[in-house]
Amino acid sequence: MKVLIATDKPFAKVAVDGIRKEIEAAGFELALLEKYTEKQQLLDAVADANAIIIRSDIIDAEVIAAAKQLKIVVRAGAGYDNVDLEAATAAGVCVMNTPGQNSNAVAELVFGLLVFAVRNFYNGTSGTELMGKKLGIHAYGNVGRNVARIAKGFGMELYAFDAFCPAEVIEKDGVKAVSSVEELYSVSDIVSLHIPATAETKQSINAALLGRMPKGAVLVNTARKEVINETEILEFMESRPDFKYVTDIVPGNDAEMKEKVGGRYFTTPKKMGAQTAEANINAGIAAAKQIVDFIKNGSERFRVNK
Ligand code: 3PG
Repeated sequence: MKVLIATDKPFAKVAVDGIRKEIEAAGFELALLEKYTEKQQLLDAVADANAIIIRSDIIDAEVIAAAKQLKIVVRAGAGYDNVDLEAATAAGVCVMNTPGQNSNAVAELVFGLLVFAVRNFYNGTSGTELMGKKLGIHAYGNVGRNVARIAKGFGMELYAFDAFCPAEVIEKDGVKAVSSVEELYSVSDIVSLHIPATAETKQSINAALLGRMPKGAVLVNTARKEVINETEILEFMESRPDFKYVTDIVPGNDAEMKEKVGGRYFTTPKKMGAQTAEANINAGIAAAKQIVDFIKNGSERFRVNK
């Protein structure tokens, strides 16, 4: 049984060692493809793999077709929009994620980006503090909950909107559940995005929504670039010189953003939210365990293409 780790953005070595331990203890073989630059390298590597562990790596119909022995793909992380679920299902391949395993890492980066933003990107001018500001958490899943926990330490006032999470669950954490996405943006000084990229959410963060935010507002995105309407956010920021945008996912119009609204916009060069040893260990080893449990016991817990 051959398990392939295919990661354009590698896990920390300590996590790879931990994955290897799990895989070899089960009597399986581990192969590693890291920092690949051509899709062909991935296509070649998957040819004899029975299981694959990935991160944001693209597993499309071509990759599935090239992986003739494939039984399972585990996305070591939360969002699985990078996997063609239809192609996987058609080929009889099980797809799983490892929910919650990297969420604290992502939530901590939200505050790394936020302090940087409200202190005017450390340009030497007087910024503001997070204490007392209204933070809107857009989607209250694993990352959203961790953001709420950390934000309490900063003394922020918390609001959340999640179409799929009951208000009682949100309010139990001392967070005010608002009843619409529009209300969330109207009430929040800062909005932190934690929605997945789906047909419904793609491009949904647009000028109309951002225009509801008060003067001096900040948007922080550690979710997906696809949820932003990039044309509209640029136009909006040109018309609102008080507005700041910080993101962990390089936008398609990064160069134009830097040129036109550069002093109020920042992106990490590569998605860094889950790039900690702890998150790599948690998500990577969970992925390895899920593969072993699937192959040995047929367990389909965390399957996302039911
Ligand atoms: C996730 O969906 O788990 C996060 O976006 C992290 O993605 P990454 O593993 O590519 O860093």
